[in-house]
Formats: sequence, C-alpha cells, structure tokens
Amino acid sequence: MQTALTVNGRARQLDLDPCTSLLDALREHLHLTGTKKGCDHGQCGACTVLINGRRINACLTLAVMHEGDEIVTIEGLGSPNALHPMQAAFVDQDAFQCGYCTAGQICSAVGMLAEAKAGWPSHATADVAGPSAVLTDAEIRERMSGNICRCAAYPNIVAAIRKVAEGGDR
Ligand code: FES
Ligand code: FES
Repeated sequence: MQTALTVNGRARQLDLDPCTSLLDALREHLHLTGTKKGCDHGQCGACTVLINGRRINACLTLAVMHEGDEIVTIEGLGSPNALHPMQAAFVDQDAFQCGYCTAGQICSAVGMLAEAKAGWPSHATADVAGPSAVLTDAEIRERMSGNICRCAAYPNIVAAIRKVAEGGDR
C-alpha cells in the first residue's frame, strides 16, 4: 500500500503492508534506527516519537494511520552540532548508561513538557482544577512513568528534564 509520511520535515513515500507499525516503518523502511524497539507492545516507551507534537508509542500505531501527520523522531529533534535542549540536558546530566531507552525518554520528555505547559494534570497533581502543575520530581516521575530505564538512570533523567523545565526551554 502506497503510504505518504512526513518524517522530520521530509516527505517520504513508502510501499507498506497495511499492518506495518509506525515503529517498523521508521526503523526497517526508513532506517531511522534512533527510535528503539524494546517490547513491541506498549510497555517500555523505547519507541516514543512525537506526532503533531504529542508523544506516542510507535509500536502501538500503524504507519498508514499517519498520512498527513508531522512525525518527529530523535534524529529530527536536533543534530550533533545543534542539539535540542532536552538532548543537551541529557548529555549534561549524564542521564543514560546503555542508552537504549534514551531516544524514547527524550522524545517523551519533550512531549511531556508540552502537556504540562498546556495544563494537563497527572495522577501526582494535587489540584487537578488548578493552574499548570509545578513540575516537582514526583510530577516528572509520574508523567514519565511510561518510559522504562533498565539501567535505572532515573535520578539523572529527572534532573535533565527538570533542568529544561526550569529553564523554560521547551
Ligand atoms: Fe514500544 Fe516498548 S517498543 S513501548
Ligand atoms: Fe540503559 Fe535506560 S540507559 S535502559
């Protein structure tokens, strides 16, 4: 099935089986291997990408559902010479060990800060009817709970995200 996707600002034309997940389309067809496959069924968050600015598990959605959407992967967030602030914060805070979860963590964190900025509450928000939640460590941990890190680099991941949140650099 001919499928037109926009990935990292670039129009891509693919011939896909309609059952192809977005994750497999990115990795196997477009060779954008920064996005990782951990569990392939929505449990680990390693495959998180941004679609129209919102985070999504690419293993749980079909590529053909995303014609007309703006898909951004870790490769499109920044470049080695011009890192996205979240990428730079992860490096600065040493927020990884093996790095397998890192692309998903970073994409998820970018989407999460946009959600918080838009006033979306979380299960850790004391007053869900109040103004935007303050991103305490508890809030960040709850909001990032869909991204598992088997190396348990969580304290550094939270520190990196807090650094960007406090800098207002989203
Ligand atoms: Fe998609 Fe684990 S690979 S959530
Ligand atoms: Fe190894 Fe997170 S850095 S899984």
